Amino acid sequence: MFTVMPEDITNFLREMMPERSELLKSIEKECLEEYIPLVEPEVGRFLQVLVQIKRPSRILEIGTGIGYSSILLAQALDENKHITTIEIDKNRYERACKNFAAAGINEIITPLWGDANEIIPTLKGPFDFVFMDAAKGQYPEFFSKIWPLLCKDGVLVIDNIFLNGWVINMTWPERRKKTMVCRVRKLLETLKNHTELTTAIVPLGDGLSVSTRRTLHEKS
Ligand SMILES: C[S@@+](CC[C@H](N)C(=O)[O-])C[C@H]1O[C@@H](n2cnc3c(N)ncnc32)[C@H](O)[C@@H]1O
Repeated sequence: MFTVMPEDITNFLREMMPERSELLKSIEKECLEEYIPLVEPEVGRFLQVLVQIKRPSRILEIGTGIGYSSILLAQALDENKHITTIEIDKNRYERACKNFAAAGINEIITPLWGDANEIIPTLKGPFDFVFMDAAKGQYPEFFSKIWPLLCKDGVLVIDNIFLNGWVINMTWPERRKKTMVCRVRKLLETLKNHTELTTAIVPLGDGLSVSTRRTLHEKS
C-alpha cells in the first residue's frame, strides 16, 4: 500500500475514518502478509464517496485482487445495482468469490476470471462507473477498450497513476519498468487532452485520476 502522502497525514486520514468491518480488516491483513496489492483504506473511502455521489447502476472493476475494493464499492452502491469485476489470477479470483460470499454481496456482483483485455470487448455496456486497478502497463489498452462502454456522464477512476512517484519524475528503478511508466504517463496525457473527458488527478494513496465523460454540446 504505497502512498505519496507523508506518514503523519496518512495516519491522520485513517484516524478520521470509521472502523472497518472485521472481514475488511482480515482481508487487509491477508494482503499485507502475502504481498497482494489492494487499495489503501483512504482510497477505498474516497471510492465509496464517489459512488454515493454518482449513484451508478452498473460498475465495472478491472483488477479484483481478493475482493477488497469490490466489497467497498458494493457497500456504497444503491439497492439492486450491479458490479462486474475481472481478475486474471485464478487463485485470487477464487479467494475473492469466497470473500464476496462472506460479505453477503453475491447477488449484486459478477466476478469474472480471465484477462480483462479479452473479457471487456465481450461485455454488454454501458457502465456508468469504471474502476481500473490492474496491470499498469496495460492501462492505455484497457482504456481504449473501456471507452466504448462508458456512458455519457459516466465516471472513470484509475488507481496508482503516480506509480510510486516514477510517473511524476519520469524515473524508473530498473530498465524493465520504463515501458510501464511511459504508458501510464501517456494515458494521463490522453486524459488531459481528451475532448469528451473532464479529469482531475487526486494525490491520494499512489495517485488517482477521476474523469467524467461529458456530453458534447454543439457550439452555435
Ligand atoms: C492492485 S490489484 C487489485 C486490487 C483490488 N482492486 C483491491 O483493491 O482489492 C491488481 C489485480 O489486477 C490483476 N490483473 C492484472 N492484469 C490483469 C488483466 N489483464 N486482467 C484482469 N486482471 C488483471 C492482478 O492479478 C491483480 O490481482
